[in-house]
Amino acid sequence: MGGPSSEREVSLATGRVILNALDKTKYNLTPVTINKDGKWLLPPPDRKFLSGDENKEEKSLVALETGNAIDKLKTERGADVVFIAMHGTYGEDGTVQGFLEMAGVPYTGSGILASALAMDKLKSSELFLFHGLKVPKYLNFSNKQWNKDKDKITTKVSEKISLPCVIKPSNCGSSVGITIVRKIDDLENAVQLAFSYDDIVLAQEYISGVEVTCAVLDEGGDKEPIALPPTQIIPKDSEFFDYHAKYTPGATEEITPPRLPAEIINKIQENALQVHKIIGCSGMSRTDMILGGDGKLYVLEINTIPGMTETSLLPQAAAAAGISFPDLLDKIIQAALNKRKSL
Ligand SMILES: Nc1ncnc2c1ncn2[C@@H]1O[C@H](COP(=O)(O)OP(=O)(O)O)[C@@H](O)[C@H]1O
Ligand SMILES: [Mg+2]
Repeated sequence: MGGPSSEREVSLATGRVILNALDKTKYNLTPVTINKDGKWLLPPPDRKFLSGDENKEEKSLVALETGNAIDKLKTERGADVVFIAMHGTYGEDGTVQGFLEMAGVPYTGSGILASALAMDKLKSSELFLFHGLKVPKYLNFSNKQWNKDKDKITTKVSEKISLPCVIKPSNCGSSVGITIVRKIDDLENAVQLAFSYDDIVLAQEYISGVEVTCAVLDEGGDKEPIALPPTQIIPKDSEFFDYHAKYTPGATEEITPPRLPAEIINKIQENALQVHKIIGCSGMSRTDMILGGDGKLYVLEINTIPGMTETSLLPQAAAAAGISFPDLLDKIIQAALNKRKSL
């Protein structure tokens, strides 16, 4: 948990909740926090340290480089599986997955390619389009292109995408760096903000409609992935599902399953399954979509490590399907072990 990404705080919350919920009679846990410099902080082997707060516990923790830490976890602590509770770059984008893959240590969630593709909104959108799914119309440009052709890109955005439009970094999460631009004069600031998180920025058509998200649980082995009940998202005091709406208790109304006709719910679940398979995810995923006013379902993105505090969307969806939070975690761990067996 933790890590250097802009979603560090969310990850620490996810990690703490997972540590508390995991069945201690079943698992021997070693909480590992990764600091902002990418060092892995390991508790002493004899300590049942479960707070996950490295500031409080710093003195008793051993800070190690990634490779050394994984080696120690494998050889000295006998780690059978790593539960990755990180979001965003480094933890959710295939980077940590690559390290664990090289060390031969099973880990939860998707592999390197699926993690990297899912993190990249431009590349994943291209794949969704290739497979016939609908995505909001978009333009993409690099920081270099923007600095060279700012005026041309601005004209293109207003002509081809039209306003309002959504400016977002290609690689990010938790709505960090995203702005809805309603006046062309606001474009420059929105683009600069997005470039502070990634070198590639998307200008997307704004889809007004019903926002939904749908999780897929994929235990692997001989089990087929299943779509959980979707959730409708209604931010109460934000213009979109921004950071505040995501992480402030009570700031968003979340309805599982949405008050929508059964055939639309089915379509949302089918889309989520298709997106999960196109990207090649394992364990779990959660696809964000908007049901447009035109009745079409637009795919915004897929998350390979969705938030996992008890009030987060994936645990809520699991609960609606009759799967308790500890059971959900067991299934995610089982998926990691199944993947290992099928190698
Ligand atoms: N094209 C769009 N039209 C309307 N709203 C959007 C669009 N893109 C993003 N949003 C809003 O921004 C939020 C975050 O966007 P998303 O693409 O899911 O990125 P993130 O990885 O930050 O969650 C969405 O949940 C939605 O509320
Ligand atoms: Mg999202």
